[in-house]
Amino acid sequence: MAKNASLGKARDAKEDEFYTQLNDISNELKYYKEHFKGKTVLCNCDDPRVSNFFHYFSYNFETLGLKKLITTCYKNQERDLFSQNNSEKAISLEYCGEKNGSKIPTVEEIGIRELQGDGDFRSKECIELLKEADIVVTNPPFSLFREYVAQLI
Ligand SMILES: C[S@@+](CC[C@H](N)C(=O)[O-])C[C@H]1O[C@@H](n2cnc3c(N)ncnc32)[C@H](O)[C@@H]1O
Repeated sequence: MAKNASLGKARDAKEDEFYTQLNDISNELKYYKEHFKGKTVLCNCDDPRVSNFFHYFSYNFETLGLKKLITTCYKNQERDLFSQNNSEKAISLEYCGEKNGSKIPTVEEIGIRELQGDGDFRSKECIELLKEADIVVTNPPFSLFREYVAQLI
């Protein structure tokens, strides 16, 4: 029984750290393109340095006609495919589109801001970002799915 419980925990933790493939994101989001025009999009379970959601929206910012893209990461400041979630600090990132003619999002165009807390989607500062957003797009942690959806509603 104890072994089952710990296997279950390990499975949840692993699924919490599953990263969505760029192909899957573009194959799904192609159906909603018209809805993004003039909108602020928030990806609130996404380390912008590794998230393909951030990649998709920043590279398609002009095509979709977005107003702003905000992403926040959770307990992590290191670039790492599998977040260790071992930092009490986190960052958020804001992109408002092409400014220097480079046609790709550059470091100078992306505003990186240190969050006060750990980037938990339930924290006050992340809820403020949620209020600013028109559309939220992410793949949240499996173990917190119910809580995540309840907050959105
Ligand atoms: C299933 S992964 C998906 C990551 C990314 N959204 C993607 O689709 O590639 C869920 C992410 O949520 C993050 N996470 C876990 N608990 C969180 C929390 N309380 N608040 C915000 N993010 C959290 C994890 O670190 C992980 O990166």
